[in-house]
Amino acid sequence: MAAPLNLQNMQLIFANHQSNPRIQTTAFHFSQFRLRPTSPRRSQFHVIKNSLIEASHVYDDVPLLSASEAIERLRSSRESCKRTLRYLAMYSSVFGGIVTDEGAMVIPMDDHMVHRGHGVFDTAAIVDGYLYELEQHLDRFLGSADKAKIKPPFDKQTMKRILVQTVSASSCRNGSLRYWLSSGPGDFQLSPSGCHLSTLYAIVIQDQSPPSYKGIKVITASIPIKPPQFAIMKSVNYLPNVLSKMEAEENGAYAAIWLDEQGFVAEGPNMNVAFVTQDNVLLMPPFDKILSGCTAKRVLELAGDLVKNKKIRGVQVKDVSVEEGKEAQEMMLIGSGVVVRPVLQWDDKIIGNGKEGAVTESLRNLILDDMKSGPSTVRTAIPY
Ligand SMILES: Cc1ncc(COP(=O)(O)O)c(C=O)c1O
Repeated sequence: MAAPLNLQNMQLIFANHQSNPRIQTTAFHFSQFRLRPTSPRRSQFHVIKNSLIEASHVYDDVPLLSASEAIERLRSSRESCKRTLRYLAMYSSVFGGIVTDEGAMVIPMDDHMVHRGHGVFDTAAIVDGYLYELEQHLDRFLGSADKAKIKPPFDKQTMKRILVQTVSASSCRNGSLRYWLSSGPGDFQLSPSGCHLSTLYAIVIQDQSPPSYKGIKVITASIPIKPPQFAIMKSVNYLPNVLSKMEAEENGAYAAIWLDEQGFVAEGPNMNVAFVTQDNVLLMPPFDKILSGCTAKRVLELAGDLVKNKKIRGVQVKDVSVEEGKEAQEMMLIGSGVVVRPVLQWDDKIIGNGKEGAVTESLRNLILDDMKSGPSTVRTAIPY
């Protein structure tokens, strides 16, 4: 039975209102002044009325926005934060087109990629108006989608056309392109069976900060590496990678290096690792339990030049023990983001003489040249 309404009960209701959402509603309802305390003195009634109004104020400070107001707010929140990044264009298969207004660069909340992490992604650098290694990244992208059981909404050629047009619409000549495949919007369930259509999203990012190839320190990661089944695909489940990067930063390092289940060197959170042994061989861990990096694979191809010029004795892809890695004369991180960056210290061990080695520098120059003037197999022209 409901308790009689009197001043004491009403104060109780309001004392509780912050912790009990059902009472919040009741209190809100009461604030419409349907409630009359049993014989209130005038001053008491005012106290109650004021607290009712205060209580109702707590629940009406979140504005209800129109779609255009929401877009405007997103646009201005982006503009208000200091950043060197700009998003120049976004494609969404949900929109069926490209937008260049940052306020419209959104994806649906019920997309399976958002609430269950059921999505894959990839990137490609935009260098002097060309997409670098787009084909290679697209192949890996489709491989990741296949492993994640996401059926793309388009075939590879159509996706390539969309990506090229998105870069063209952005007018960006130097930056990066990121793209995602997801099982799409659905019903917030675990199964994607309610997701009606898989989706493709892409965004063109311009970074105005200059690249850095300075030597860095790495540590051994304590965050567990993903099992091979998940490490070989580029899914959006990057929580271990994020935590490993944070662990590195907390320890004054640039990246944390994962070891595989057998204790061999695996990879960094978003890059591969390579070494130059004391007898001048370029050494790289195999790609069967880690992401097969497009940049690392290209480095392996271009390293043939260094063998020809006798700068290195050879190239070997094999398991690398931690001892072997720490004894190397050079160590480097390789990836689309870092390009080729020298590692000068791993945990407490200084690598080589603590300075960037000649092989690391030569490999970086080979990749940078390849980005600017490599063959058509690695460069896709953007028709602006
Ligand atoms: C886990 C991981 N390993 C390696 C790489 C390097 O790959 P790529 O050279 O294709 O950028 C990445 C790139 O994002 C990555 O996320």
